[in-house]
Amino acid sequence: MNYENIVVETREKVGIIQLNRPKALNALNDKLMDELGTALTDFDADEDIGCIILTGSEKAFAAGADIGAMANYTFMDVYKGEYITRNWEQIRRIRKPVIAAVAGYALGGGCELAMMCDFIIAAETAKFGQPEIKLGTIPGAGGTQRLPRAVSKAKAMDMCLTGRMMDAAEAERAGLVSRIVPADKLMEETLVAATTIASMSLPVVMMVKESINRAYEMTLNDGVQFERRLFHSTFATEDQKEGMKAFMEKRPPAFRNL
Ligand code: HXC
Repeated sequence: MNYENIVVETREKVGIIQLNRPKALNALNDKLMDELGTALTDFDADEDIGCIILTGSEKAFAAGADIGAMANYTFMDVYKGEYITRNWEQIRRIRKPVIAAVAGYALGGGCELAMMCDFIIAAETAKFGQPEIKLGTIPGAGGTQRLPRAVSKAKAMDMCLTGRMMDAAEAERAGLVSRIVPADKLMEETLVAATTIASMSLPVVMMVKESINRAYEMTLNDGVQFERRLFHSTFATEDQKEGMKAFMEKRPPAFRNL
């Protein structure tokens, strides 16, 4: 498939999507978000893919939604859902893990897009922020909802009200990113993580993702019950038999996604 705004490739069982509007610091317009949704959906459906990486350039993961495109939208344009938010929802439907590999700016919708991924690996150069307030608007793709869950109310208020950026070190301290790596090792390190995940049993990987995501939607009691049922159901898989047998035989498991 030929895309204008993203570059898609695979490395063994890892699907890689690179945002590719370098002149606009990967500003996210509707065409790009449509293409991203299609590429993610295709990788999700591809049996040979076990994990997906979403990345940008050295300078920017994404500097936000495309301000030039948005500037003249009316309320009806955006409310009816023809622009901006409709195609931002697709990433939430993806059942395989999506890792955001972030270097440079992840601002506004760029920060929100990174937070929609399952976890963020940041280069030392990464900068996160929700500067919408400086444009006379507010985050519109989950910034006010996911940021407080990731970094606490205090820091989310600080970020969204002042519009300031936080660097990679602050983001890691606050829990927004899972780890920081040297900028020139970002893809290498993210690929190691993605390849590790892709070597596991895919259905079991999907259960982990589903179960952790439930933690944000349920009471602890309901979440623990949900997890327990999924845990029980792993005993109906061949991969659980293989995983435990391989451990006892002191050999690596050969998972077959069954
Ligand atoms: C459109 C953008 C852009 C954006 C950068 N560019 N960000 N175009 N939308 N969000 C363009 C610039 O206009 C410029 O184009 C080129 O990219 C390089 O940017 P510069 O500003 O010259 O680079 P620099 O001086 O290095 O500053 C980088 C920056 C700054 C700090 C990231 O570009 C910036 O503040 N950008 C806007 C960030 C922002 O406010 N994001 C939130 C958007 S609102 P030209 O043609 O001049 O070279 C949002 C709402 C989400 O995201 C809602 C989701 C539903």
